Amino acid sequence: MQKEFSFKYDILNNINELPNKEKTLLQKARENTQNAYAPYSQFHVSAVALLDNGETICATNQENASYPVGICAERVLLSAVSSLQPGALIKTISISYDNTNGESSKPISPCGICRQSLLEYETRFNTQIKIIMSGLDGEVLVVENAKQLLPFNFSSGDL
Ligand code: THU
Repeated sequence: MQKEFSFKYDILNNINELPNKEKTLLQKARENTQNAYAPYSQFHVSAVALLDNGETICATNQENASYPVGICAERVLLSAVSSLQPGALIKTISISYDNTNGESSKPISPCGICRQSLLEYETRFNTQIKIIMSGLDGEVLVVENAKQLLPFNFSSGDL
């Protein structure tokens, strides 16, 4: 027997093709790259959550002279939301970056560790997080939920 895993995602030419709320959310992520602490990689990442109560929470990557101590923007964001708005659900996350060493137009997607964290959040709250990915300009990718980004995942049900 063989099985196939596939999922659909949207590719937009630019931010103007997003609905208004999502456009605002991505704009915030782009602006918020300024607040990243990335003196080692010069890769300034921002992740912004839109909650079910209408609030937005912004986060950025936080690096450290002891490199492995650094944390990605996506995981900073999940911790911030769970701590600051414990009763609220994340509906959508926008992710952007400013690579001051190079190009910042190609959308980036969350790293493997962040995918695992996003999946745990979705499972824990029985929800789906839409993810909008884009650089400082150009193409925008939209995925309906984080689980799709991590096939063959390991989760609490496996313990
Ligand atoms: N980084 C993020 O914050 N999110 C990602 O999805 C990919 C990578 C950060 C980690 C590190 O501070 C810098 O970007 C370069 O890897």
